[in-house]
Amino acid sequence: MCGGTVRLLTALLVTAAMGYPSRRSATDLDATPRMTVTFDELSGVRRFSGHSLNYTTLLLEDERGVLYVGARGAVFALNASNVADGSHRMIHWEASPEKQLDCLQKGKNNKTECFNHVRFLQRLNTTHLYACGTYAFHPLCASIDADRFTLPSRFEEGKEKCPYDPSRGYTGLIVDGGLYTATRYEFRSLPDIRRNLHQRPLKTEESPLHWLNDAEFVASMLVQESKDSLVGDDDKIYYFFMERAGEETTSFFDKSQVARVARVARVCKSDLGGKKILQRKWTSFMKARLVCYIPYYEVLRSVCSLDSGGWASTVFYAAFTLSAQRTMEASAVCRYDISEVQRAFEGPYMEYQDSSRKWSRYDGAVPEPRPGSCITDSSRRKGYNSSQDLPNSVLDFVKLHPLMFEEVQPAGGEPLLVKRSVAYSRLAVDRVQALDGRSYDVLFMGTGDGWLHKAVVLGSSLHIIEEVQVFRDLQPVETLVVSRRQRSLYVGAASGVLQVPLASCARYSSCYDCILARDPYCAWDGWACRDTASGDSTGLVQDVQSGNVGCRSSSGRGSLPWKNRTVLRGDDVLLPCDQRSNLARAVWLLNGSEVPGTGQERLRVGVDGLLVTNTLPGHSGEYRCYGEERGLRTLLAAYSLTVLPQLPRAATTTSGPIAASQASGDTKVVYVSAIVVLVVLCAVLGTVLLYVSCLEKRRGKYVLGEPRAVSPELQTVSASCLRKARGEEDEEDEEDPAYPCLRIIPGEAPTATVSPAKELPEAVPPPPPPPLPTELTNGVGSLPSVLRKMNGNSYMLLQQQDEPLASPLYSASFTEELSKILEKRKHMQLVEKLDESSV
Ligand SMILES: *[C@@H]1O[C@H](CO)[C@@H](O)[C@H](O)[C@H]1NC(C)=O
Ligand SMILES: *[C@@H]1O[C@H](CO)[C@@H](O)[C@H](O)[C@H]1NC(C)=O
Ligand SMILES: *[C@@H]1O[C@H](CO)[C@@H](O)[C@H](O)[C@H]1NC(C)=O
Ligand SMILES: *[C@@H]1O[C@H](CO)[C@@H](O)[C@H](O)[C@H]1NC(C)=O
Ligand SMILES: *[C@@H]1O[C@H](CO)[C@@H](O)[C@H](O)[C@H]1NC(C)=O
Ligand SMILES: *[C@@H]1O[C@H](CO)[C@@H](O)[C@H](O)[C@H]1NC(C)=O
Ligand SMILES: *[C@@H]1O[C@H](CO)[C@@H](O)[C@H](O)[C@H]1NC(C)=O
Repeated sequence: MCGGTVRLLTALLVTAAMGYPSRRSATDLDATPRMTVTFDELSGVRRFSGHSLNYTTLLLEDERGVLYVGARGAVFALNASNVADGSHRMIHWEASPEKQLDCLQKGKNNKTECFNHVRFLQRLNTTHLYACGTYAFHPLCASIDADRFTLPSRFEEGKEKCPYDPSRGYTGLIVDGGLYTATRYEFRSLPDIRRNLHQRPLKTEESPLHWLNDAEFVASMLVQESKDSLVGDDDKIYYFFMERAGEETTSFFDKSQVARVARVARVCKSDLGGKKILQRKWTSFMKARLVCYIPYYEVLRSVCSLDSGGWASTVFYAAFTLSAQRTMEASAVCRYDISEVQRAFEGPYMEYQDSSRKWSRYDGAVPEPRPGSCITDSSRRKGYNSSQDLPNSVLDFVKLHPLMFEEVQPAGGEPLLVKRSVAYSRLAVDRVQALDGRSYDVLFMGTGDGWLHKAVVLGSSLHIIEEVQVFRDLQPVETLVVSRRQRSLYVGAASGVLQVPLASCARYSSCYDCILARDPYCAWDGWACRDTASGDSTGLVQDVQSGNVGCRSSSGRGSLPWKNRTVLRGDDVLLPCDQRSNLARAVWLLNGSEVPGTGQERLRVGVDGLLVTNTLPGHSGEYRCYGEERGLRTLLAAYSLTVLPQLPRAATTTSGPIAASQASGDTKVVYVSAIVVLVVLCAVLGTVLLYVSCLEKRRGKYVLGEPRAVSPELQTVSASCLRKARGEEDEEDEEDPAYPCLRIIPGEAPTATVSPAKELPEAVPPPPPPPLPTELTNGVGSLPSVLRKMNGNSYMLLQQQDEPLASPLYSASFTEELSKILEKRKHMQLVEKLDESSV
């Protein structure tokens, strides 16, 4: 089970030698989501689903307040302000029975594939939408009148515009009436970037070199570089995809293993193709390698882009999953500046050497105007008014040099995030003006198993504000669309469409909670944490930068009630205390001084609370639990623990024999019992640890602790009970069903007293869940089993720290290993420096 890790690490070791230095280690690049919100705790989410499946194609028209949805066999128009208000309109668009039968006869799956999956849906002109569907492997397209919302009587052939296969990577855009699509369109055809619905339809070149090698397309984006261009440049369409690395030498890999790499390619909008050479083909196609973190083991999943007014400020965010034999999940998120992409396209070209069958850097003469560039003022001045005027030398060069030598590196040279145990499937980004006057990029990242991570970009790293389980059933988040107008995020997936608020500030119940969240959408107004967009922003408190400044310190204890706990000497007792924030450290004070996390034999600070084992009367005292985060301490629970040396008189009278046996106290038995308790605890702990350490799926961390009742019950285990459990003969106790094995003291009982549990004759009481030492649990143990609403928390200002606190919780062995390996790169320079960068 754990073998996969070893293989991943081997794989990483191999790739680490390739020399992509990263300044920070994998541990530093990882981030723990601060809050975990499970499906049952979710509120404010609206859900739409009709009788179809696969709600994957979303088109938001914010000004019109409509969200169009392409699904399997249907197109919907939803009210963007409330997708669930029942006012939706629908077009049935199923594949005909003949086509379905035909599809079935081709050996396709009649449960998932032989349907009309609507995969393209965009605005065509002021009156019409344009939609394409796979139509049971016979793609069709249609112009849909947006107002009447009905299918036309005539359809268009879709095989040049839409893939046959519903699961094939596909991306498409309508730009100035032209339809730009990229996919593998037919059964045996090669992948292609095409332009249709245009007087000059274009394709990519296939000979003598394939411009695209088994490409799986992920995204495409229009960047309007003609706007305010000083050189009269053209608009460009950027394509993001994975493909087989033709330039790869295989010395490093098995021959069987095909190295696939991420690419960015682009074409110019005004490209008209060549006149004789490259006729009806792009003359402006160029592609470059896109690098994020671990070359050859990263698979591009999603790309989104953003600009702040001008195209020159465009940034691309890309999510990769790091794959190694699919045994362990990890993801990386990188940001790319458009200037870096342009730098690669303006750099040297690669050339294929027929003799050596290798790609290498081309250092020969480059014809003019620069091959692959758009028509600019300077080429116009030379008489090249369009791509049709370009000289043959340029077009011949373009034909043979589609690949650039330079790679596109992420901004800052490293990822924003490397997240283990998570496979991001989709990204969306929003830019938010915070109260400090700065703009922050907020990333919404959907996972392969139905969760949503919301993160804010802070300099060169990500702070994950929360992880939210938006689907109960495991399913990938397929599409994410942000609406600033509706303050909503639309999520498309197999089972339906969700409308999730961009911010759920009400989740934060106090000023410090609001500040610590570092959510740029939220601020504290003195009474509540609220969305900054609603109402006046004066007097609001927010601290996205450091996450701990601005709240006035309130008194320490506040209204939190003390809970009394009374146990017998030798019992174990768990004082529950859940940390709402996964980034908080539990701090326990006993009679005012801190209980050390380690080194104390009988006091163990765990995730769920403090466990006192084999109590002595000296353990009595006042216990207070705090959550400490970014230098702020929050009081979460307070207990007054009393350890009785023996059963109180009242109890003694009701159960004489027990008291007698306790009082007569065979010390040997007590010691043996103590040892047994420890052995049993160790065994339980060991088992749990073994289980946890082999858990690779993220879901594992949510099943660690059983969800418990809202008011936790205290369990104490009597030492004498285990003696019985082991079947040790013990005179008169044997036949007594009232033998006190388990005592349950209700959490809210004003004054708890010990009373023999007559109604619980079972011999073996379940021991309290052992807290897992954080250093052994890969950080999993630091996540709460279930988060609870907690009211009346009060805070006290401990210290202000300028430096962000390193998360003390996330000492994952995976990331440690990873960083060790990455460190080793430096010492691996002797290994033959590989291809790629040197090709
Ligand atoms: C959409 O919902 C909003 C608010 O729920 C409502 O005011 C509006 O009339 C609805 N639009 C349509 C077209 O139903
Ligand atoms: C799919 O095909 C199988 C046999 O090929 C058939 O038994 C089944 O009923 C079909 N299912 C549907 C939904 O048509
Ligand atoms: C939009 O496109 C459709 C389909 O091609 C066409 O019938 C319609 O006239 C166009 N509308 C306008 C306003 O151009
Ligand atoms: C459509 O949804 C079904 C059911 O969840 C899933 O099995 C299938 O893979 C989906 N198909 C596509 C093309 O997303
Ligand atoms: C390019 O356009 C200019 C002005 O529009 C024209 O004078 C010139 O002849 C054109 N050149 C070619 C090669 O068509
Ligand atoms: C804590 O204080 C109480 C009385 O205030 C005392 O009885 C107890 O022994 C103290 N506990 C410890 C561990 O110091
Ligand atoms: C706990 O016990 C003390 C006395 O030991 C008492 O004053 C206090 O009210 C009790 N607290 C609760 C919540 O019952």
